[in-house]
Amino acid sequence: MGPGDLEQILQGLPYDDVPELLTSVRDGEDAGVYLLSERLAIVQTVDFFPPIVDDPATFGRIAAANALSDIYAMGGRPLTAMNLVAWPCGLDLGVLEEILRGGREKVREAGAVIVGGHSIEDDEIKYGMSVTGVVDPERMTAISGARPGDMLVLTKPLGTGILATALKAGLVGEADMNEAIDSMCALNGPAADALSRVGVSACTDVTGFGLVGHLYSMVRAGAVATDIWASEVPLFERTIDMAALGMVPELRFKESEGFGSVEVAAPRTDPLVVDTLFDPQTSGGLLAAVAPGDAEALIGELRAGPCPRAAVIGKITDGLEVRVRILDRRRD
Ligand code: CO
Ligand code: CO
Repeated sequence: MGPGDLEQILQGLPYDDVPELLTSVRDGEDAGVYLLSERLAIVQTVDFFPPIVDDPATFGRIAAANALSDIYAMGGRPLTAMNLVAWPCGLDLGVLEEILRGGREKVREAGAVIVGGHSIEDDEIKYGMSVTGVVDPERMTAISGARPGDMLVLTKPLGTGILATALKAGLVGEADMNEAIDSMCALNGPAADALSRVGVSACTDVTGFGLVGHLYSMVRAGAVATDIWASEVPLFERTIDMAALGMVPELRFKESEGFGSVEVAAPRTDPLVVDTLFDPQTSGGLLAAVAPGDAEALIGELRAGPCPRAAVIGKITDGLEVRVRILDRRRD
């Protein structure tokens, strides 16, 4: 059984359909949105994973930023968080304190509070959070609204899966991947604010299924298709060097049924760059579909502010058989 099969079991569960449930995993979302009153819905999400960097406080920051991200992807505001800890018996608890300190720092930066948590003994360290936020249902940024002609905006570069694999193998040190570490620690909140000021058709965040996998979920949910312009996609420094040394992790989306509707039509693009488009990201950027007239101003605002390497990386189209087409370069 692969990770794709695991995911399908969760997605295939019989979910109770109540009118208050505005959106959920059923619609391809990573967060559930439940209506409380006319102008108020709660947004809930959870995520946790083993360490991907050596420094414990940095791991805590990354895990928290990653868990908060699905609230931002929905256009929501995080309010409360609960720590989730798996800890090997006998391991130095000072390390755990550092992880929790890093996590708390990010939750405070987000303007939210930690209200509790749960811990178990386990063979391997794991840390993350469940997060609850609120959103005005009228301003919710669902994954499903992309329209043909929309531009695709990505707020952070790709390559954290490849770089984390290289770090584990000892081929890079944390000092060699500062850009990626800073990016994983960065909250998607300021970027989400910029997106909501402009108003976007659809939004999600890029995590375990990589750019192509999450884009596939977006276009399937919206019954549209998309072109990705490989030369426009920002990558972290050293990503391609490390991919060339064989540091590409398991590309989960390539094992899923969605891969059948992806076409690679990029003969001039390095196949390692194509692989990076599938690289599973931790605390990746927001991916939004934006009306073409709004894209340039939005990119300007993002680059001048929280996301110096934000880019327009493709375009929503109306194809149906091929959902995601990867091209060499921009083609409007
Ligand atoms: Co998630
Ligand atoms: Co997500």
